[in-house]
Parts: sequence; structure tokens; C-alpha cells
Amino acid sequence: MKATALQLNTIYIQDCFSFLQSLENESIDLAIIDPPYNLKVADWDSFKSEQEFLDFSFAWIDLMLQKMKKSGSFYIFNTPYHCALFLHYLQGKAVFQNFITWYKKDGLSYTKKKFVNNQESILFYTMDSKDYYFDYDSVRIPYKSTQRIAHAREKGILKNGKRWYPNKKGKLCPDVWEIVSQRHKQKLNGKTQKLNHPTPKPKEMIERMIKASSKEGDLVLDLFAGSGTTSKVAKEFGRNYIGCELNSGYLDSSLEIRESK
Ligand SMILES: C[S@@+](CC[C@H](N)C(=O)[O-])C[C@H]1O[C@@H](n2cnc3c(N)ncnc32)[C@H](O)[C@@H]1O
Repeated sequence: MKATALQLNTIYIQDCFSFLQSLENESIDLAIIDPPYNLKVADWDSFKSEQEFLDFSFAWIDLMLQKMKKSGSFYIFNTPYHCALFLHYLQGKAVFQNFITWYKKDGLSYTKKKFVNNQESILFYTMDSKDYYFDYDSVRIPYKSTQRIAHAREKGILKNGKRWYPNKKGKLCPDVWEIVSQRHKQKLNGKTQKLNHPTPKPKEMIERMIKASSKEGDLVLDLFAGSGTTSKVAKEFGRNYIGCELNSGYLDSSLEIRESK
């Protein structure tokens, strides 16, 4: 980034729109965006109407796209319904890669009028159809059928006339991610605790995105930083980060914070 631009490895206490406007165009390698969902979990997640929420979301999406490098990738979290609307909006603006389902085994919402919501969605896009980074090997996951795999490790399994042996690092990562939510990970004596931020994302989920879609030294955008999970993981794995958040009280103290002028 240019010297006149924003400081790397800093979270600005600032509204996402003014922050994005001061960010250099085509400077971001990877954006991991965990925005408001309009589920009314906090003031910042409460919009007057669905239309107001969509106008807000489409406006930051448009600005974010300008900041992406041509070889960049981005992930957007939301409800499955909103992700479907975002996907429609993104047609022709970026290259769709995956509609990832975060399957949350824990923390079910209570309803008897429809099926229980048990998932969140993540859109994975790249800016180009060919020129982008994806390290599938770094995000392999353990095989489930351990007995069959143990057998295959020794003797292999005959597949299309060839012997197949399991990969030592595990199987290729699918688009359904079974990860325990942070709230349920931080239980005390079996009870969920009130966290400093109402909706922090699990570290291993962000780690998967950062390992798959960025290299050491790349710049990761953490637009609605919250507690700063994305920035912390980026830092841990030798990536640079930059982002913004309205409420400085949410942010982890290990991160560099700067109040906007
Ligand atoms: C879903 S949370 C992000 C949680 C984060 N991924 C984590 O792991 O902690 C969204 C965050 O966006 C912030 N936010 C909401 N509207 C914003 C805006 N217009 N500009 C900047 N930040 C905003 C909220 O304060 C909230 O912390």
C-alpha cells in the first residue's frame, strides 16, 4: 500500500463506508466479511426494514469490490436467505466459487412452526475465474470412516483400475463445515457465558479461509471486525490485516487500534 494510505495491521474505529473510501483500490488479497445479519442481536444488527438492510449490504459490497485485487478472494457470512440475495446481487460482478454451509450442531433456535435453523452460510468468491490462490492441501480435514481408511492405508482401495491410498493430511475440505460456535466452546460448567462480543466467529473457521485463500505477507480485510478474530488469525499466520469496527470495546487488546479523525 502507498505511504499516504492507511496503516497496515491496524483496526480503525470507524464506519465501514468512510473506512472503505480511504482504502486504496485493488489493494486487498483476501476479504473475510462478517457483517450485520439484521437478526436484531444488537443495535448495530437492527435495521428499520429489510430494504434498509439490503441497501446497506449492497452499498458495502459495491465499495468492497473496488478494493479487491484482480487475483483476490472474498468470503461473506450471513443467513442462508440473505446469502441467496447477495449471490443474486453479485452476479456478473465477481466469480462464484462456493455456497458454504456452516453446520452448527449446537445452539439451536427454538421453534415449533418450521424446521429449526441449524446453519449459517458463507459465500466464497474470487475476482478472477483462473488467477487466484487456493491452497486445498492446507485445509484438508480428517477422514471419518477410520476403519476403512486404516485398511486402505495398508492395502489401498481399487478405484477405476488403480489403487487409491488415503492422503496422510486427510481428505479434501467439502463445502459443509461442521464447527462448534464460539459461544458453545467457551462454556463454563456446561453453561454458555455472556461474551464481550455477542457473535464472535470460531478461530478454526477463519483459519481455514486464511490458509486456503492467502499467502504469507498478503493483506486481509476485516471490514466488520467485532472482536477481531479475522485480524488475530491473519497476524498469527503471518498475513497483514486491516479493518474497521464501530465499537472499540469489542476488540481484542492484542490488536493495534486507531480512532478515526
Ligand atoms: C457479526 S459482527 C463481527 C464479529 C467478528 N467476526 C468476530 O469474530 O468477533 C459485526 C460487527 O460489525 C460492527 N459494525 C456494524 N455496523 C458497522 C459499520 N457500519 N461500520 C463498521 N462496523 C460496523 C458491529 O459493531 C459488530 O461488531
